[in-house]
Amino acid sequence: MNDQRENALQYARNNKEIFLSTYKEILSIPSISTEKAHKPDIQRAAEWLSAQLGTLGMQKVQIFPTALSPIVYGESLGVPGAPTVLVYGHYDVQPVDPIELWKTGPFEPTVIGEDIFARGASDMKGQALITLKAAEALIQTGGLPINIKWLFEGEEEVGSPNLAAFIASHTEMLACDFAVNPDSGMMGREFPTITYGLRGLAYFELRVFGPAHDLHSGMFGGVVHNPANALAELIAGMHDATGRVNLPGFYNTVRALSQEEHEEFARLPVNESDYIEQTGVPALHGETGFTANELTGARPTLDVNGLFSGFIGEGSKTVIPAWAMAKLSMRLVPDQDPQKVHKELLRYLEQNAPKDIRWELKALAGNPASISDRKNPGVQAMAKALETVWGVQPYFKREGGSIPVVGDMQRLLGVESVICGFGLPDDNVHAPNEKQNLPTWYHGIDAYINFFVNLKP
Ligand code: BES
Ligand code: MN
Repeated sequence: MNDQRENALQYARNNKEIFLSTYKEILSIPSISTEKAHKPDIQRAAEWLSAQLGTLGMQKVQIFPTALSPIVYGESLGVPGAPTVLVYGHYDVQPVDPIELWKTGPFEPTVIGEDIFARGASDMKGQALITLKAAEALIQTGGLPINIKWLFEGEEEVGSPNLAAFIASHTEMLACDFAVNPDSGMMGREFPTITYGLRGLAYFELRVFGPAHDLHSGMFGGVVHNPANALAELIAGMHDATGRVNLPGFYNTVRALSQEEHEEFARLPVNESDYIEQTGVPALHGETGFTANELTGARPTLDVNGLFSGFIGEGSKTVIPAWAMAKLSMRLVPDQDPQKVHKELLRYLEQNAPKDIRWELKALAGNPASISDRKNPGVQAMAKALETVWGVQPYFKREGGSIPVVGDMQRLLGVESVICGFGLPDDNVHAPNEKQNLPTWYHGIDAYINFFVNLKP
């Protein structure tokens, strides 16, 4: 067995260049799930993955259409008595705007120094490919030591609207001992990280309507409520002076942090100054009474993700806009319920919106937060693998981002996820110039080879 570990690691070393060219192939497909124009690219990415699974010799490789993006499945169940691991990935990516800030084409993967730049390089085509390449290395050097099922979706970046129903109707096909989810990152190049908590999300579009059409702001300014002003007033009221979210009942079910958890957060290798450096802000801002790690890992938020109204062209135009729009989202923590948060936002608007405007609220996505069991045997195998590759024990972290499938799998399959990927805090995920650090990517392949070998009974 240890021979195979060595042989597989050697195979990965020998094939670095070929692995990189495969990586560039998938990065070249603009599989943006939120834009209808990219539907054919979503399909192409799904087909590309199913071809990869076929080349690896997986059985029952299949593309399942859904209302939005197809799901790709394949399995290898040839090792009786060994655990069955369900490996999850998403092949969709976020939009590229603002495109003018990219230094290289978002779908023309470019290696500069130690990094590869492209949309999806870090989140998460690179992470998904790590699992496939680790499997390939083992298959080419004696065979997989365990059973694997692969599940790739193409709509994670829009909140996985069809995945839960798919899982619920394929529980037998997806039955496993535990899941592995590489859709995550490390706290720094020298800090291998296992993520055990994720925040949930509740996402809305709020529109405020005023006059029937745009008005001259001199002729009518002063007698009508400008919907842009009204929207700004509503948003301003959504936080209090201590940075808490001001929706009725918002904190009622929020789980408090124990003393032990405070201490654990304090041991993480990043602090306030790292956040300042990573973000470029002059000072941090947030709910008072918590550290930066606690705020992102364990406290809920409300943020404006987009804002639109009136004239935004060159120069000036004196106008009172007919309407205004905000995209709003809350990051949720245990035990908040996205549907209850929806009701709280409605209550807030009913109580606070002035009578001289009309508003509409649309819910776009929602999923609850999740906490994963750290004693799972998969977590132990991963911790050992990370220590083997990095020479230090991994950190355990609660992440501020969301991955809806982790909670879905707990609820619908009764399985825990080992969440471990190799993105870095400065990868520019969801932003221009997304990248993946390549030495870290190759280490990730080595880690997953070790992980799969560690799982063999
Ligand atoms: N990979 C991210 C989640 C993540 C971010 C994990 C940072 C670890 C560190 C994932 O692809 C993502 O961005 N999810 C969306 C989900 C949403 C649309 C439901 C998110 O968090 O915004
Ligand atoms: Mn993402």
